[in-house]
Amino acid sequence: MVEQNLSRRRFLSRQIRIALGAIGLSAIGFSCDKEKNPVEPEPIGATYTIDLSDPTYTDLTVVGGALKLDVPNLDFQVLIIRTGVETVSALSTVCTHLGCPVELPQDGQIWCQCHNSYFSLTGERLSGPATEPLPQIDARIDNNQILLDY
Ligand code: FES
Repeated sequence: MVEQNLSRRRFLSRQIRIALGAIGLSAIGFSCDKEKNPVEPEPIGATYTIDLSDPTYTDLTVVGGALKLDVPNLDFQVLIIRTGVETVSALSTVCTHLGCPVELPQDGQIWCQCHNSYFSLTGERLSGPATEPLPQIDARIDNNQILLDY
C-alpha cells in the first residue's frame, strides 16, 4: 500500500513536471514566434530619413550610440548603430536563430538573450546557435541625416 501511494505520488510529480515543462516550452516558443524568422528584406525602392538634429535621435549622434526603430513597410524593427563619425550600420533586430528580438549593442556586440547568440555591430554572427548574420539594410550618413535605402 505504501509502495502504491509512493508510486502514485511519483507519477503525479512526473506529470506535473512534464506539464510545467510544456508550459515553459510553449512560453519560449511564443516569445520567439512573436516575430517572423529573419529574411532578407525585399528591396522596395524606399528611402527612410532620420534627421539627426531631431532630439529623438540623439543616441545616433555619438559613435557607439544605437536605437531600434520602426520603419515604414518593414515588418521588423531596425537596429541602427552609429559605428563611426561617417558610418552607420542598420540591421534587422530579428535573430537569425529562432526570431527573437536582439538587444541593443553592448561592448561592441549584439546579443540575443533567447539562446545566447552574439553578432558584430555589422551583423556578422560571432557565436551561439544562430548560423546566419543579421540581415543588413543599406545605410549612410549625409548632411546630418541617416538614410536607409530598402
Ligand atoms: S532566437 Fe535563439 S539565439 Fe536568438
